[in-house]
Amino acid sequence: MRSKITVVGAGFVGSTLVQRLAERDYADVVMFDIVPNMPQGKALDMLQAGPVLGYDSLVTGTNDYADTANSDVVVVTSGFPRKPGMSRDDLLKKNQEIIAQVTEQVVKYSPNTIMIMVTNPLDAMAHVALHVSGFPRERVLGMAGVLDTARFRTFIAQEVGASVRDVQAYVLGGHGDTMVPLSRMCTVAGVPIAQLIPAERIEQIVQRTRDGGAEIVKLLGNGSAYFAPSASALQMVDSIILDKKMILPSAIYLKGEYGINDLFVGVPAQLGAKGLEKVIEVELSEQEQAALHKSAGAVKELVNVMGM
Ligand code: APR
Repeated sequence: MRSKITVVGAGFVGSTLVQRLAERDYADVVMFDIVPNMPQGKALDMLQAGPVLGYDSLVTGTNDYADTANSDVVVVTSGFPRKPGMSRDDLLKKNQEIIAQVTEQVVKYSPNTIMIMVTNPLDAMAHVALHVSGFPRERVLGMAGVLDTARFRTFIAQEVGASVRDVQAYVLGGHGDTMVPLSRMCTVAGVPIAQLIPAERIEQIVQRTRDGGAEIVKLLGNGSAYFAPSASALQMVDSIILDKKMILPSAIYLKGEYGINDLFVGVPAQLGAKGLEKVIEVELSEQEQAALHKSAGAVKELVNVMGM
């Protein structure tokens, strides 16, 4: 039987993800939104791209959670995106309410699913989903690290004129201004970037990575990034549905790893058929550890504001 994937929120990120998933051709995809008819229209349009692109994925749009029943994976993108000048944190209260409602419905119809959260502020929304669902932490993951790392890799590849495929990097911490790009561990075909790029230039690239989302928000003028976010969520779904056991930087509810407890923070995580299969603990320098804890502190503040 084909796998079943639901994407909640048929906006820019959600619908782009559904199109990417359809092209993978390994699952049927349900796209849910509260706006009447809109997900149905988008789904029909995507279905009709199948004969041209050669996929048989059944894409369905719906406003009824019953259609999402027994999904293997549910990706949640519903909520409001950032407007220019708005921080991810400004979105907090608005999206907390939406995520709590969505999670209740998702869990009602797919009690064994694996949830991947995308809505911002990411780490806080994953926290809401975990607690409302009552799921074990293995089945509630957040997408942020793959995206932040992709941004870092893009800028490094441009800087040295290399293929993005040859650039390896990790960005840890919360998905916010305090994220921690581990430049010490970034390599181009195995060569540490410290040997290729002057230190002050690396610092500028790290800063551009931190501001990566805001840079795009400003350019778009209305809405936030969606091509790279949807590609990043896709990679997490790939690793789960195909049980690839890739190690992907993901927002994970930590239970003592890296000295952090009861918070979602971005760390390298092995993802497979069971969802989170292993948290990878990289040895950090004192400075990196301090930056990670500062980032966790920022996530904690949001959790406190939400009263959780
Ligand atoms: N249930 C389901 N869908 C909802 C709900 C809800 N309660 N509330 C809003 N939505 C839908 C909207 O109708 C809209 O179609 O969520 C969709 C959000 O889409 P966009 O506004 O296009 O936002 P998008 O750019 O896709 O970003 C979604 O992902 O990257 C993050 O920061 C981003 O939090 C934002 C999220």
